[in-house]
Amino acid sequence: MPTQNQVTIAPAEGKLGVLIPGIGAVSTTFIAGVEAVKRGLGQPIGSLTQLATIRLGKRTDNRTPMIKDFVPLAALDDLVFGGWDIYPDTAYEAASNARVLEEPLLTKVKDPLQSIKPMAAVFDQEYVKRINGPNVKTEGSKMDKAQALVADIETFRKTNGCSRLMMIWCGSTEVFHRPGAVHQTLETFEKGLAVNDPDIAPSQIYAYAALKSGVPFANGAPNLTHDIPALLDLARDRQVPICGKDFKTGQTFMKTLLAPGFKARMLGVNGWFSTNILGNRDGEVLEDPGSFKSKEETKLSVLDQIFQPHLYPMLYKDLYHAVRINYYPPRGDAKEGWDNIDIFGWLGYPMQIKVDFLCRDSILAAPLVLDLVLFLDLAQRAGMKGIQEWLSFYFKAPMTAQGLYPEHDIFIQLMKLKNTLRWMRGEDLITHLGLEYYD
Ligand SMILES: NC(=O)c1ccc[n+]([C@@H]2O[C@H](COP(=O)([O-])OP(=O)(O)OC[C@H]3O[C@@H](n4cnc5c(N)ncnc54)[C@H](O)[C@@H]3O)[C@@H](O)[C@H]2O)c1
Repeated sequence: MPTQNQVTIAPAEGKLGVLIPGIGAVSTTFIAGVEAVKRGLGQPIGSLTQLATIRLGKRTDNRTPMIKDFVPLAALDDLVFGGWDIYPDTAYEAASNARVLEEPLLTKVKDPLQSIKPMAAVFDQEYVKRINGPNVKTEGSKMDKAQALVADIETFRKTNGCSRLMMIWCGSTEVFHRPGAVHQTLETFEKGLAVNDPDIAPSQIYAYAALKSGVPFANGAPNLTHDIPALLDLARDRQVPICGKDFKTGQTFMKTLLAPGFKARMLGVNGWFSTNILGNRDGEVLEDPGSFKSKEETKLSVLDQIFQPHLYPMLYKDLYHAVRINYYPPRGDAKEGWDNIDIFGWLGYPMQIKVDFLCRDSILAAPLVLDLVLFLDLAQRAGMKGIQEWLSFYFKAPMTAQGLYPEHDIFIQLMKLKNTLRWMRGEDLITHLGLEYYD
């Protein structure tokens, strides 16, 4: 029973267009998966929007609806997909090349995948060094390219009869770069687009085009992209929700499960060495030191934020944390991530933990893409704008308001997500205090 004011949420009527820069392993595994689920060929394992419940009221109330019945989400049947890539391969060809899903399943969803032909990409090899392809926009300034993307978005909207759109970056990881003068205001950014400022990355041109078109934008890679004052302002001005960065899947997912546990028990950690081998195109791009630096930054920041060494110097100030990624073609998308963790307990006695996670990157990422698509569309219909911190749950480097440290503990993130849904529907927030059961 709602007890507070509810947020007004527009109904999820009509088609929701999902626009994806980067028709690669993650995006095709997501699209093929949705098509498979729609046909009853598989289950959406890993997706909160499809499988999770949410507790409402007291533990004695026995109210635990499915999230998808509690908030009005777009139906899978109403999703339509499109995107851009530097390679002209259809989503079917890209999925076959990625070798994540097996051919018999792909064959069953061949028709919808084959109909997705990537639009010409905005690309700059200065930002992604190891790959190059022919399907790119070559004419004009960066502003002209931004306008071409705006036109692509409009054409897609009309052709597919979409009532709403959202965009999610599943493109390669761009090289690390910090916000510069051109990123500070919308005015400097637009001037920079007009004069081809080298500090404006392709992903920022997509984000600009999306926000200009009133389309919510999520970033699945660690690139700087829309985490700059100019585009944050644009999102707020246009009343558009945004979120990012870098899907929290394999190794970092494990870290944000384990580290809060050590801290909760006040166990010390003085070493955490993480290494990975992977053989997909993402792995190839990450061989470049610039792209790896973007990834390293988001991967390294997690432990520092969780352990708070300034508050617990005895336990965490000497933590040595290193992350390595090696491109190893034989593994394809089936990556392996090892962690050696040196911890210490009572009286400083040392112990070790070894984690060997033989995971599948895109299988872990696909349900995150689905949830982000549906939740960001929900946020838009609920009139929420700017950074959506409640979606931190999905990211290695959650975006936050300036001056605010991000929350990395996955269980706090989940509580934040579910409380935001309760708040939207005017339900009591759950604090887990529980004293009322003992009065
Ligand atoms: N799989 C995971 O678990 C995971 C987790 C976190 C982040 N990510 C990130 O998600 C992104 C996608 O991963 P993936 O495994 O699908 O990689 P992928 O290499 O298979 O696909 C990326 C695609 O983006 C395309 N691309 C590059 N620059 C582009 C541009 N400017 N415009 C349009 N297309 C462009 C590439 O041609 C490629 O087809 C990567 O940045 C990766 O780091 C993946």
